[in-house]
Amino acid sequence: MAKQSAIRTPIVCVMGHVDHGKTSLLDRIRGSSVVSTEEGAITQHIGATLVPIDAITRMGGALSQVSVNIPGLLFIDTPGHHAFTTLRARGGALADMAIVVVDINEGFRPQTIEALQILRNYKTPFVIAANKVDRIHGWRVQEGQPFKKTFAQQNERVQGMLETKVYELVGKLSDLGFSSERFDRVSDFARNICIVPTSAITGEGISDILMVLIGLAQRYMTENLKVSADGPGAGTVLEVKEERGLGMTLDVILYDGILKVGDEIVVAGNDQIIEAKVRSLLKPRPMSEILIEERFERVKSITAAAGIKVAAPKLDGVIAGSPLRVVRGGNRDEMIERVRHEVQDIQVNLSDIGVIIRADTIGALEALSKELESHQIQVMRATVGPVTRHDVIEAGTIKDPLYSAIIAFNTPVLPDAVDTLADTSMSHVSIFEGGVIYQLLDDYVEWREEKKQ
Ligand code: GTP
Ligand code: MG
Repeated sequence: MAKQSAIRTPIVCVMGHVDHGKTSLLDRIRGSSVVSTEEGAITQHIGATLVPIDAITRMGGALSQVSVNIPGLLFIDTPGHHAFTTLRARGGALADMAIVVVDINEGFRPQTIEALQILRNYKTPFVIAANKVDRIHGWRVQEGQPFKKTFAQQNERVQGMLETKVYELVGKLSDLGFSSERFDRVSDFARNICIVPTSAITGEGISDILMVLIGLAQRYMTENLKVSADGPGAGTVLEVKEERGLGMTLDVILYDGILKVGDEIVVAGNDQIIEAKVRSLLKPRPMSEILIEERFERVKSITAAAGIKVAAPKLDGVIAGSPLRVVRGGNRDEMIERVRHEVQDIQVNLSDIGVIIRADTIGALEALSKELESHQIQVMRATVGPVTRHDVIEAGTIKDPLYSAIIAFNTPVLPDAVDTLADTSMSHVSIFEGGVIYQLLDDYVEWREEKKQ
């Protein structure tokens, strides 16, 4: 037991293109375990689902033969497609691992590719869920069965079709520089990405994907997952939300240590560090409860890894993606410094001449700047928030016209910025807006090429 408590629950991010089945996959994982003991119960957290190892082993399959020393898995569903980028910690990605969900019938789509690029930049291990296999024409559903069993029940044509589709994915992954294989043919998890055919609707392949995740965690991450279970809490702010009756709240993923009511916390605002005292910690109640006051259950403390809502005074201006640190035993200055440092980290690679970039969160900004960096595109300024008039004016004065551009990822352009852009003196400035990093990049590069001519 002592050994277990020293290893925290790995955090798994579920990513992928819109409608490919991320939420359904998590729903299925939640629904398919037989919950018999309180200890083994799957619990809903703020922004996350905690699946204890008991619940996973109960799903059976090949998993029951694996010896496991992690406490479970904390799954984070990324709504839409880009939220993964808000999840950062220790100057890197918050997630220890990821599931990239791909509709096997549709193959890779823009956000699939974006997810893979982000995972590559952060070197996050991941598994591919080749989802919606039940939609393959002629598929015979074997409810809840592991892949091997269900595959054996399919006729040759269907088997061939599945193979072809899996190889299409292998080819696409290879184009992106990843070597991959159907999971049951992979022997070296470090070299090959596993592709697991799944159906979130019928539960086929679900136990396999959990097994692969546990394998990844066991083999490659147990060192990183060691924590002091009662150390001061460290987390990442997922969202900043006003809640009726609670005021401003932070939805936080706690990845290390413990967070208690009454703790002093340090978080980042747009241009200052914010200190606050935790007034309440709130866990979501089961869906059935409707009254606002009853949506949350108050708890006194919470231990990593977990998702929790934090209510405290003075939270106005906290930015999504901010680190959160608990002050304890005279470490206040150190914590303030740490938060400051983590927020500023991403501004390290700024140049005197370069594009201006904007994004909705710190993580998104970092993901964008990393991608630009890998294409040798310089960045002059990187800030969270909407595009302002000031940004346009600044872009207008950049010496190199090829850098007179603003790239806005997931963030709006303010009306007075639009007005300023319409000014004839700003005709050489362009704003690129959108929700997919590499499309923004393509658009910018294309504009640049045209300008060069
Ligand atoms: P966003 O959160 O909007 O990005 O979508 P998502 O990836 O969470 O997809 P979601 O789970 O909402 O699923 C989208 C649609 O696909 C829903 O209608 C699901 O019922 C359906 N779906 C998801 N997985 C499967 C599957 O394995 N088989 C079938 N037949 N349908 C599926
Ligand atoms: Mg979803």
